[in-house]
Amino acid sequence: MNEHFDPRVTPWQIEESEFYELESFDGQMRFLLQYAVLAPSGHNTQPWSFRIVKDGVEVFADYERRLPVIDPTDRELLMSVGAAIMNFRIAAAHFGFDTSVMYDPRPEEQTAVALISAVETCSPDGSLTPLFGAISKRRTNRALFDAEPIEPQALSHLCEVIDRFPETLRLILPQDKNRVAGMVEESARVRMARPAFRAEIADWIRADDGQHSDGISSEALGVPHVLAAGATWFLRQFDFGEWQAPRDRRLAESASALILVTGDDERVPLIRAGEAMERLLLTITDVGLQYSFLNHPAAVKGMRERIGDLAGASQPAQLLIRIGFAPPVEQPMPRRDLASVIARTE
Ligand SMILES: Cc1cc2nc3c(=O)[nH]c(=O)nc-3n(C[C@H](O)[C@H](O)[C@H](O)COP(=O)(O)O)c2cc1C
Repeated sequence: MNEHFDPRVTPWQIEESEFYELESFDGQMRFLLQYAVLAPSGHNTQPWSFRIVKDGVEVFADYERRLPVIDPTDRELLMSVGAAIMNFRIAAAHFGFDTSVMYDPRPEEQTAVALISAVETCSPDGSLTPLFGAISKRRTNRALFDAEPIEPQALSHLCEVIDRFPETLRLILPQDKNRVAGMVEESARVRMARPAFRAEIADWIRADDGQHSDGISSEALGVPHVLAAGATWFLRQFDFGEWQAPRDRRLAESASALILVTGDDERVPLIRAGEAMERLLLTITDVGLQYSFLNHPAAVKGMRERIGDLAGASQPAQLLIRIGFAPPVEQPMPRRDLASVIARTE
């Protein structure tokens, strides 16, 4: 790792003009991958790797970065990979490429989950290019929102992306918000009561000291840097549900809108759900709103079906996203050095 590499800063500072000095296709693909790795991922595990090939990029899910307790069937892992694919495609469109994705449904862990082919074009996908600027501005924001109604113009942009993926993005009606907030509280209590669940969260909490290139900084979770070690110790020892569950309920209640992400529990539908999710998150960012995740109801048996029914979903619930107003998060989460996620071509 280069000695000036700060994982919290360097990956987010991409000099756009450098793209136009690149002469090889390989160099261009590598450049675009800088945007792919800015995608969100469960607990900032960044469970992806890439190989640049003749006509594009092969995308791999990195199962060594899985969360076996929080995400036992790799649903969030695959959606995170989908988010990285979407970022790549948006960046590719911005720099003048048409992309198409071929997915591999086979469950083998060593094979690429997708091949993104990229071809230069004079008319890149106009539904992707407007989201480019949001890639490096997007942050998960875990603050309380102020529950104000969303302005009509922003709402129409959100509805556009929801209408594009009617099977995957389900708007929860305002009159159901408090019921969903209750589900969030109940399911958070169930999950937080499990010591293994809390231990896995603790495993991915990091001190915000510039030494870590993955995981979530304690400050993003509302715990000051100096208390990080103590907080993870407490999390492992005690059932935090009593404190966390009502807090999660308030976070849901403070939302201006709630959206359920749904998709079949298979590799390809999950990757595609992740792509739709990222389009949504970038649109939220683009219109100046904030978001975070409250996924507990989608992960607890019984509750998962209830929230799906409430949202009129025809596919299983995967993620719950709340949207609203709050001051933006300034400091981005760290990312791994790009070189460590690009496989060498033989
Ligand atoms: C599939 C998926 C699931 C996530 N689940 C949660 C969650 O349950 N709680 C949470 O606070 N953040 C969740 N996140 C947000 C990640 O923690 C976040 O993306 C990561 O820490 C990187 O930070 P950034 O989004 O600000 O770049 C999730 C992200 C993805 C893509």
